[in-house]
Amino acid sequence: MENDFRRKPRRAARRSPPPSSSRSCRSCRVSIEALHRGLKVLDVGCGSGRALNLRASAFPQSDFTGYDFSAEAISAARAEAARLKLQNVRFMVRDAATLGELEHYDPITAFDAIHDQARPAKVLHSVANALKTDGVFLMQDIAGSSHVHKNLDHPLAVFLYTISCMHCMTVSLALNGDGLGAMATTEVLKFVRELPASEGVT
Ligand SMILES: C[S@@+](CC[C@H](N)C(=O)[O-])C[C@H]1O[C@@H](n2cnc3c(N)ncnc32)[C@H](O)[C@@H]1O
Repeated sequence: MENDFRRKPRRAARRSPPPSSSRSCRSCRVSIEALHRGLKVLDVGCGSGRALNLRASAFPQSDFTGYDFSAEAISAARAEAARLKLQNVRFMVRDAATLGELEHYDPITAFDAIHDQARPAKVLHSVANALKTDGVFLMQDIAGSSHVHKNLDHPLAVFLYTISCMHCMTVSLALNGDGLGAMATTEVLKFVRELPASEGVT
């Protein structure tokens, strides 16, 4: 679903039950309790590893792996893990498009990383293969629109288009990729929607 910041009426805050650590995805076994017991977790496009190191500190029984193709980012991630004396996290310089791992991880996460991919569909296929059958993929990406006129009232539009042109789109195009850019919500979601049909992912 595409965001339209101009026309979408503000929805009243929905009253939802307070988050509970015992609530989890209905059909899977990934939960806070399971993370305390021990899961195998992968973060693709982990950057300098802050989010993964935090999780590794919080869940010492789980194993955390972070992949990023930037050697500089991975080196910063390892330095932080060493400073925090974490034994349950490892960081590797890897291209997320060619993971080559089969049914290995319980949850896989990607924070702000799919729109940056040269070949997002290939990364998502790699992720689908690397998940255990009851695993979960959690992806967070920028809530923009692929249509510039729909981003006119986006509070961060100028900033996001700047980093998009200076980094996200440019890096992807330099690798002969799709060059989605930071605001490519429609395209990112299209890749995600196409995934179940091609990979049997539900
Ligand atoms: C916007 S950063 C987000 C970093 C981190 N997830 C965070 O939230 O701070 C996107 C990251 O994806 C990485 N990346 C892009 N394409 C990649 C690929 N094919 N394989 C591995 N990492 C990739 C970039 O190097 C960058 O560190």
